[in-house]
Amino acid sequence: MCGIIGVAGNTEAVSVLLDGLERLEYRGYDSAGVAVVSPDGNLQVKKCKGRLSVLREALSRQEPLSGTIGIGHTRWATHGEPSDVNAHPHVGQNGKIAVVHNGIIENYLEIKQSLIRKGISFVSDTDTEVIVQLLEYYYGKKSDLMDAVYAVLNRIKGAYAMGILCSDFPGQMIAAKKDAPLLIGYGTDGNYIASDVTALLAHTKTVTYMEDDEVAVMTPDQVQIFDRDGCLLEKEKQLIAWDISAAEKGGYAHFMLKEIMEQPEAVWKTISPRLANGEIVLEELAEDADFMRGISRIYLVACGSAYHVGVVGKYVLEKLLHIPAEACLASEFRYSEPVLGESSLVIVISQSGETLDSMAALREAKRKGSRVLSIVNVMGSSIARESDYVLYTWAGPEIAVATTKAYTTQMVLLLMLGLWMARQLNRIQEGEYRKLVGGLEQLPEKIKKVLGNLDLYQKAASRYFNHNSVFYIGRNLDYALGLEGSLKLKEISYIHSESYAAGELKHGTISLIEPGTLVVALASYEPLAEKMLSNIVEVTSRGAEVLAVATEKTEGLVNSQAAEVFVIPAVHPLLQPVLGVIPLQLFAYYIALNRGCDIDKPRNLAKSVTVE
Ligand code: G6P
Repeated sequence: MCGIIGVAGNTEAVSVLLDGLERLEYRGYDSAGVAVVSPDGNLQVKKCKGRLSVLREALSRQEPLSGTIGIGHTRWATHGEPSDVNAHPHVGQNGKIAVVHNGIIENYLEIKQSLIRKGISFVSDTDTEVIVQLLEYYYGKKSDLMDAVYAVLNRIKGAYAMGILCSDFPGQMIAAKKDAPLLIGYGTDGNYIASDVTALLAHTKTVTYMEDDEVAVMTPDQVQIFDRDGCLLEKEKQLIAWDISAAEKGGYAHFMLKEIMEQPEAVWKTISPRLANGEIVLEELAEDADFMRGISRIYLVACGSAYHVGVVGKYVLEKLLHIPAEACLASEFRYSEPVLGESSLVIVISQSGETLDSMAALREAKRKGSRVLSIVNVMGSSIARESDYVLYTWAGPEIAVATTKAYTTQMVLLLMLGLWMARQLNRIQEGEYRKLVGGLEQLPEKIKKVLGNLDLYQKAASRYFNHNSVFYIGRNLDYALGLEGSLKLKEISYIHSESYAAGELKHGTISLIEPGTLVVALASYEPLAEKMLSNIVEVTSRGAEVLAVATEKTEGLVNSQAAEVFVIPAVHPLLQPVLGVIPLQLFAYYIALNRGCDIDKPRNLAKSVTVE
């Protein structure tokens, strides 16, 4: 969702800001803007509704904004429609202070009304404008900018990551954070703030994650971070392992295709550091193996595709551990008064580590005394930091809104966790454990094999891209897979699609099947492949056209009923969804390509959802 970049540097800020905003585009936005301050205190702002190209174009038509200190923002509308005036940065009525903000100020109406009563006039419908108007108001009264900043932070309620410029202090930028991510980057040519590490990679890999209630004051040569009482802090710096090339397309038409093709390597990066002499080693959990042994219930909590990993996890963990496991949508979990206690383990799954509902679910679980283990991709993200245990997927930056490599690596890590726990609990036989560990090691090679059939998925997509409704059916792990396949398709191609447990179809949805309806039938889960055949016959006998996903072992069963079969290598049934998802990702990708959709930035969607 909204993105922030800021620089206190030695060269012109605008191009740095625009470049940073470009790298944040993938998060989803509907307007963008920049503000810079010149050494003589001239605060200049430009902001526009629409894509970044509109802002670039508008900037090229006017006198260049000049200054080496600046802030930029991509806005995803929450309070107030997408428009030039609602875009950030917002400037106070005296034109002295500019602010960019991510998050939501919950008590903005009350503050706005009280400022209006004091004669301050507002120009936008945003909650953010109260920050800047209040800041100017307090600054006017207190004459000390930092006092005014703290007064504002004490008054506002809600979530914020913000960057602040003031024309009276043209050499500095101020940043503040609470419940929304913000990092500081230390470069050789200046210092930076960003809501997302990908915006910083071109300048530096040395960063500090700001914690809640911290305030930073930055100049080109210095970064000072203060706590909520104004005391100077010594913060640790971290080195980001990601390379800038990982956040670039590298010759692929879309980030999504690049990320799909990166899966063999990404999965290997997830697996290899955690395997030693054929044994799964989870150092992150080793010290607490005792707690793991006492777990009586597991909740897998997440949103979107990560929730679909949770559904895979439910089947896998119950099978391996014989402990009840439940997959929960974070947005439901947090308000459902879940029965949690000290022996419950809550597994939060999140690529970004910033999804607000997942974060809230995590806090609810901790409030109720449960331990939280998170499976996260982005290092140092909020969910990672607040969890009791973190397992990083190490998938590298994922830019396309529709997740692919993060999904597969989350699934692989969950399988490894299940196997590790099964070993701790003595619930898996040696032979089965060996088979699964061996299977894990071979996954990258098998994924490569599935990726070798691009032309097959391409051909199928050009045959089916005109359909306006597609059903996905499967049983057990194939059902979980169908949820993800269907979501991928609707996210990027805008085709209506639904996913059903195959046995459930006849309880209502089968009435929608008519001659020519496309049904993607997943028959890769060998133990239930025969049952799937009956469900396939159910739909073909009503005229449906079936596109099946089968393994080398189940292909023979479904061949005669399906118009098309994507055949994938047969692996252990618990590992099968890791391979099964790949044809579904590529099918969705090529369908969207045929339909001319904006694949990496689908309409109305955001990569990281930081609102409820
Ligand atoms: C958004 C993304 C999805 C993602 C979901 C959860 O909706 O578009 O691809 O699965 O958020 O995100 P997370 O970062 O928590 O995995």
